[in-house]
Amino acid sequence: MGTIVKIQALKGFKDILPQEVALWRQLEEKARQVFERFTCEEIRLPILEETELFARSIGEATDIVEKEMYTFVDKKVTMRPEATASLLRAYIEHGLHVVKPVQRLFTIGPMFRHERPQKGRLRQFHQLDVEVLGSQHPRVDAELMAMAATLLDELSIATSLEINSLGCPACRPLYREKLLLFIEGCKDSLCADCRRRSVVNPLRVLDCKVASCRAQVEEAPSLVEHLCAECAEHFAQVRGGLEQLGIAHKVNKFMVRGLDYYCRTTFEFVTGDLGAQAAVGAGGRYDGLIESLGGPKGCPGIGFAMGMERLVLLMQQRQGEKAADPGIDLFIAAMGEMAVARGFALGHELRRLGRSVAMDYEGRSLKSQMKQANKAGARYALIIGDDELAAGRGQLRPMDGEEQRTVELDAAALATCF
Ligand code: HAM
Repeated sequence: MGTIVKIQALKGFKDILPQEVALWRQLEEKARQVFERFTCEEIRLPILEETELFARSIGEATDIVEKEMYTFVDKKVTMRPEATASLLRAYIEHGLHVVKPVQRLFTIGPMFRHERPQKGRLRQFHQLDVEVLGSQHPRVDAELMAMAATLLDELSIATSLEINSLGCPACRPLYREKLLLFIEGCKDSLCADCRRRSVVNPLRVLDCKVASCRAQVEEAPSLVEHLCAECAEHFAQVRGGLEQLGIAHKVNKFMVRGLDYYCRTTFEFVTGDLGAQAAVGAGGRYDGLIESLGGPKGCPGIGFAMGMERLVLLMQQRQGEKAADPGIDLFIAAMGEMAVARGFALGHELRRLGRSVAMDYEGRSLKSQMKQANKAGARYALIIGDDELAAGRGQLRPMDGEEQRTVELDAAALATCF
């Protein structure tokens, strides 16, 4: 035999072990419930798409497209780094705008970005993603943020909501000129990244994390102060809608998202409980994007995505423990070959009747089997010995300490006991 090599998971790719899956399921179930209350429908999308889809929607000059995508260069396909582009591709491809004037869709699944892994930042991570397509009404923006806030609230996760407006193709170019002038004036005190960014995407300078850049940026002109009349009115109405729904928020005039497709409303739900990875969820409006991907003319859209790893970390911190183990209905502890054979068939019948049943086939002692029953969180143990078997009976023992009783070894009758 050759040398044994222990292969480990790739850096930034994480196994979700059975004891963690309970929390993941809890999160997914709660998300589905809340999204459906807001009449969102689930859509399931492929993981692999044409590279061009992401380059065109997220933007060629973004970190994601420039350096984080997992691309099969020869095949010109990419593992999706986010869900919005794929969801819009499907919306357009299947003419979903014809089905309903306003589509509310959500999807849940893995995304892939070649980032430097750290707590709450992985290379394969999962998102809950929601998109509302076909309306530019500010109430839609407010409702969407209210939905995200409701989910976080029902998960008992404390965050604060920061919002901003990035304007539209009418007002942003004028602002960009002003910003460029400002950057020109303080270029020497900016980091190398920002000096490079200022050429391709000056807005990104506003959210640089380097302390010296942050200090400079404090003085920079902000987009919210340079919105055109329509964008200013839209933003005011979004804020009014949030107030009407009692959703606390604050304006972060320097919030710039890392994806190029946004216009008008952008938002982030941030937490102080996850170290550097403060954004639990984020999103915004992208009114020109659907049309630019070949969709209906002027069709607007808005959406957000939440990082599930981050939500699970916060749920763990909140609970300080794992989700409650759901346990099983029955553990069959059979002693002797004949009893094991009977228990084997009985267990299968009970599972067919919808009960969860475990059993040990290794011929262990009764004591050891009862230990296993406890560990499995069984509500009952059914003890079958060869003697009882002759009479077609067993002992049903409630695991909570109540007295055991004799029962018939009949699946239908047994199923009524638990
Ligand atoms: P994003 O800001 O790139 O936006 O990601 C949204 C959320 O996904 C983040 O706030 C974070 O919670 C989570 N996330 C992102 N990258 C990672 C990572 N490497 N590891 C763990 N979690 C991560 C988008 O993806 C947009 N598509 C959101 C959107 C939908 N905008 C409109 N519709």
